[in-house]
Formats: sequence, C-alpha cells, structure tokens
Amino acid sequence: MHIAPVGLSKFCFLFSLTFCGLLLLLLPTLKPPAHQLDLPQPRPQIRVAQKDLSHHTRPPLLSVHAGETVLAKELSRSSADKEEYTNTAVIRNDEREGDSNQQNTEPLIGVKVGDGLSGSKSHDLLELKDIFIAVKTTRKYHKSRLELLIQTWVSKAKEQTYMFTDGEDKDLEKRTGANIINTNCSAAHTRQALCCKMSVEYDKFIESQKKWFCHVDDDNYVILPSLLLLLSPYHHSQDVYLGRPSLDHPIEAAEKVKSDGSVSVKFWFATGGAGFCISRGLALKMSPWASLGNFISTAEKIRLPDDCTIGYIIEALLEVTLTHTPLFHSHLENLQKLPTDSVLEQVTLSYGGFENRRNVISIVGGFSLAEDPTRFKTVHCLLYPNTDWCPKLKDHHKN
Ligand SMILES: *[C@@H]1O[C@H](CO)[C@@H](O)[C@H](O)[C@H]1NC(C)=O
Repeated sequence: MHIAPVGLSKFCFLFSLTFCGLLLLLLPTLKPPAHQLDLPQPRPQIRVAQKDLSHHTRPPLLSVHAGETVLAKELSRSSADKEEYTNTAVIRNDEREGDSNQQNTEPLIGVKVGDGLSGSKSHDLLELKDIFIAVKTTRKYHKSRLELLIQTWVSKAKEQTYMFTDGEDKDLEKRTGANIINTNCSAAHTRQALCCKMSVEYDKFIESQKKWFCHVDDDNYVILPSLLLLLSPYHHSQDVYLGRPSLDHPIEAAEKVKSDGSVSVKFWFATGGAGFCISRGLALKMSPWASLGNFISTAEKIRLPDDCTIGYIIEALLEVTLTHTPLFHSHLENLQKLPTDSVLEQVTLSYGGFENRRNVISIVGGFSLAEDPTRFKTVHCLLYPNTDWCPKLKDHHKN
C-alpha cells in the first residue's frame, strides 16, 4: 500500500530525467546553421517505383524565414497548386524530405502543407510553365533581335516569356502575340536604365507566382529542354542562384547597404549577358533590396550595374553562393570555341559582340551562314525539325 506512491514518484523522477536528457540531445539539431556557405545540392533523381512508404507520410519541409510575410501566401498557394501533381512533366524529382544530406538550404522547419494530399504527392515535376523567362531588350532592337527570338525559341515558351523594353510596339505585339512589357525606363544604356528594367523584371516575376526566374538578353537563344534539365534537380524553395561569371575572380565593392562603406565585400555575380536563374525561395528573400524600386536604390548605393547588383544582394547581403555553370553563354566569349557536338546541351547561346559580328557558334544545319548569321535558326531547326519554316528533312524514314 505504501510502496505504490514511492514507485510513482520514482517513475516520475526517472521520466523527467529521461525527458531532459532527450531535450539536451536534440538541442544542437534544433539550432540553425549560422550561414549558408555551401552550394545548393541538386536533389537525387527519384527511384519512382520502390520508394519507402514511410517517407510519404511525413509532411513536406519548407524553408521558413523570419519576417517573411509572403510565405503564408506561398504556403496556401502551394496547397492549392493542384497542377503540381500532374503527371505530364518531363522530369521527376525526388521529394524534398528524401534528401537527408541536404545542408545548404535554410534551417528546415517541418510545416504541414495543404490538406494532407500534398504529404503523399509532393513530387515536384518541373515544367516549362513553372519558369518565368525575362528578356531584356530596347526599342531599337525589336526588329533586328527580338523578332528572331519570337520566331525561334520564344515561340516554344510564349506564355511565360516576357520581353522588357523601353518603348511602345503595339504592332509587334499584335503580329506575334508576344508578351511585351513597356517598362517606361530610359532607353539609354546606362546603369540606371538597366537597373530600372531589372527592377520591373523582378516585380513581374514575383507577381507571376512562377517557381523560377530566368533573365536573358535579346541576343540569347534559350535551349528550353536544357534549361529544364538544369533546374530540375533543385527545388524552387531552396536558395538557388545559377549562372556564369564573366570574371575569373569575385568583384569587390564597398559595403554601403549594411554598413557605412568603410568595409568592402567580395562577391561573385552571374553575367547578365549570358543569362541567369534564381529560385523563387531566394527571390523572395531578395525582396527588401529588390522589390518595388528598392533594386534601383540598392544599385545606386553600390554604383554597380544590374547583374552585379543581383550578385551583391544574393552573395554579399543574403550570403547565398552563386552556383557557377558553364552552360550559359554571352557575346563576350569566343563562341566558336564551343564544341559543335555540345551546342544543343547548353542552356543559352549568343552571337556577335562589340567588334565581332562573326563571333557565332559553329553548327551545321539547314541554313548557311549568310541565311542565318546568328545560327539561331539552325539551332532551332535541329531542336524542333518539324517547325514549318525549317528546311524539310530528307524523307529517309519512309517505309
Ligand atoms: C508605363 O506607362 C504606361 C502609361 O502610363 C502604364 O500604363 C504602364 O503600366 C507603365 N508600365 C510599367 C511597367 O509601369
């Protein structure tokens, strides 16, 4: 009769001891890492058929950032995003939670998304429609550059490609059905004018709800299947900044946003002329320095061009690392050096350059150099041979 209470308190004591011990063990794992220093790791490709079912019962994990008011909207949207679960995508990715060795992303906090459906069907099937493509141009290049893009790669991604320009062109819009946005920015090729356009691009992307932001110039050909392949291993909620630096060293600038400019910061940036991509998760974190005109004031503070400013916000302010990829190409490179058999695997191509109109990729196809000086039509017909204006293939498949 007297033993029972003693046993109970003993049990309670032992229980609380065990509980405290467990808490102590868990503490280090709950502490978020100080910085993101590693590159984002692509998630492993899925083994579709035989997946451990226990994984499916766990809620998907999302990055949660303090003070991110947009996140709540993002969360509710992803649960409503039924299209995420369609089976039409080219590439299938592993679920985020299957990624046990992922270290680069923000501290992960388990958040239940949606109605439970998403817990079991959270494959992210990246499709072309998930990618927002911004083409930066200017009024005087509508005819010579933009029309070629609209005729070629843009025709395969018409809905999600937006051309950011500085003058009205209702005729081009009507004739091609392309998305042309008059930024009302100056047509001058100045830092201010370029940053003004980038600022509008950013705001339109945020508004679009798409998963990825990719920026290219009006002398870039985007090889869409390669772009999908490049982005597919990542999740749009990871912090991903992909591109090619134009320099072989990081740039150094006086830190005037977080401090008074007495300290300098070193950072890499992806050259805008070759194109670059940013995940939605990262783009949302850039908001304090990039949204609604803030991009222009950030660029003014450090007195650097638009693409450098993007690098500055991401690498210097957010401490997220640029993932260097050689698959983007600008007119600043010697494009003839690109091996012919690898051309179609690149993500962007370009042509020309300041003094060199003959700086084009070497590729053989349906058009001569005179007929297709940029080689973009030739590339397009190799990628999409059934296009009506492509030279007809030899009919060697018949019977
Ligand atoms: C540019 O100006 C026109 C006319 O005022 C306006 O309708 C349009 O929304 C402006 N564009 C942007 C991107 O602000």
